[in-house]
Amino acid sequence: MNELINKAIQMMDRSRAPYSNYKVGAAVETADGNIIGGCNVENASYPLSNCAERTALFTAVAEGYSQFKAMAVSTENGGAPCGACRQVIWELCGDIPIYICNENGLDHETTSGTLLPEPFDESKLT
Ligand code: THU
Repeated sequence: MNELINKAIQMMDRSRAPYSNYKVGAAVETADGNIIGGCNVENASYPLSNCAERTALFTAVAEGYSQFKAMAVSTENGGAPCGACRQVIWELCGDIPIYICNENGLDHETTSGTLLPEPFDESKLT
């Protein structure tokens, strides 16, 4: 857990946030214990920006991982994942612990299920 949290905090340094100046770092732990980081990457065409959580998860998928057991997110003030990221976390990870952090460490712990009650997912598409 500490390694995951430290990675998320470190990833804030990789943030590209020239418009919001809101640095976000994230890290996801794969089922076999690898830790993969992500950061927010903003664009002058604002909606094309990508959140740190989705950067971490999409990077992990691109590296060949498909099972995840925990995620950490770090911001200057303990911000929680946005709605779009909650949906993607649920889709790719299911119900996992989410560590919400600031630059000093853990702010509080929650779960992806708590963050996205009554999810829309594959169970509705069968
Ligand atoms: N942001 C994230 O990276 N993750 C979230 O869950 C919330 C928002 C980013 C997007 C944008 O670069 C900046 O924070 C301000 O919204």
